[in-house]
Amino acid sequence: MTLNENCFNFPVIIASILAIIFVRYVVLKKMNRRNCPPTISGWIPWMGVGVEFGKAPLTYIECARQKHGSVFTILAAGKYLTFLTDADDFHFFFNSKNVDFQQAVQEAVQNTGKLLQLFRRVMFGAVVNNLFGEGAIPTDEEHIQQLEDIFVKFDDQFEYGSQIPDFFLRDWAACKQWLLKVFKTVQDRLQLQSSKSVSLVQQLMDIVDAKSAPNFALLLLWASQANAIPISFWVLAFLHTYPEELSKVSKELNDAFGDKQTELVVDEEIISKLPSIKRCILETIRLRSPGVITRKVVKSFDVKGYTIPVGDMLMVSPYWAHRDQRFFTDPESFKPDRWLAADLEKNFFLDGFIGFGGGRYQCPGRWFALMEIHVLITLILQKLSLKALDPLPKPSTLHVVGTQQPQLTYRVQFSKR
Ligand code: HEM
Repeated sequence: MTLNENCFNFPVIIASILAIIFVRYVVLKKMNRRNCPPTISGWIPWMGVGVEFGKAPLTYIECARQKHGSVFTILAAGKYLTFLTDADDFHFFFNSKNVDFQQAVQEAVQNTGKLLQLFRRVMFGAVVNNLFGEGAIPTDEEHIQQLEDIFVKFDDQFEYGSQIPDFFLRDWAACKQWLLKVFKTVQDRLQLQSSKSVSLVQQLMDIVDAKSAPNFALLLLWASQANAIPISFWVLAFLHTYPEELSKVSKELNDAFGDKQTELVVDEEIISKLPSIKRCILETIRLRSPGVITRKVVKSFDVKGYTIPVGDMLMVSPYWAHRDQRFFTDPESFKPDRWLAADLEKNFFLDGFIGFGGGRYQCPGRWFALMEIHVLITLILQKLSLKALDPLPKPSTLHVVGTQQPQLTYRVQFSKR
């Protein structure tokens, strides 16, 4: 008998390794998951139902809820995603110490229409200067276009890039590195300036460690742009689909501006005279909220008689929560006046609304977002006459992170007023 035959029987070694992997991932995992919610794990170990889920995640969530009840788990690419779909259980997500936001992964989306591009172009320059300080990032025609193009590619693959090693998504990783380099340059420039914080990003750099500052700055850019741009797009698309809402807004604009057409200034006073636009924005956020927000389970807990184990990703879907008839009658309709019941003066949203998340990790940019979108919509409606050329597109079911993007292109014809 040769040494090779004795000690290096490769088929046996490979079979043993596979058996160990099988025991480790399948058997032990299953033992650890006793009394867990109904789990949809498919027949492929580790991958689970990742492929089916990835094809149309938003639709998958609702079908799984109808089939398995309000609490269920999906195994996708080695991760157990546990969904809570009953508003009565959302406190486990928002207010419990058993789950953690920072350990969870955050992601994004994309798809374009002409109106969407218009918003992206207008908002990019304005928001970049606002968040990062005038001149921190070059915003001339050529540089802002380059930043925007690279950001769009980054946003497009963010959902996958945050899960898969850079090696498999080289283009995405190159965009990320390019953007991080931009923020590193901003950081170096800001460090040379006086330490008195003025822009949001300067304040951020004062509180986080220097090494992670560019990553936080990139998160800030993504979190602001990936939501505010599509929401602004949807506000105008809804207004041009519901003419009675558009005429309410137009009347309010006429009353607020009168015949002052020469110099258009949108300040706090003007904004306060345009509450119907704010209601339209909130109603749009209700209808086009992110498919999911996530937390990581750091301490096991019980919900509806099931045990949610440590390590699961806990998921809540604002998109589906906003279609709960207990809180929103006729939930698919665009009805800005339902927001008359909210005390927006005191910054209270409607019961059942979780468009900005909730608890400790609620969106810190929500007031900035409402204000910037309000100003932008006011300026566009006051400056331009728009005519929709396409019907209102459906939201894309392809991605679940960040604001829903349109499935199809939505073109508008516009002329100066
Ligand atoms: C309409 C626009 C926006 C919507 C719908 C929105 C929505 C959200 C949601 C749902 C979350 C997750 C909250 C949770 O998990 O409980 C979030 C997080 C966040 N948002 Fe927004 N957001 C918007 C605009 C903005 C803007 C303009 C900024 C920045 C100026 C911003 C900065 C952030 C940041 C930094 C986080 C992460 C929070 C953390 O790490 O604790 N968002 N946003």
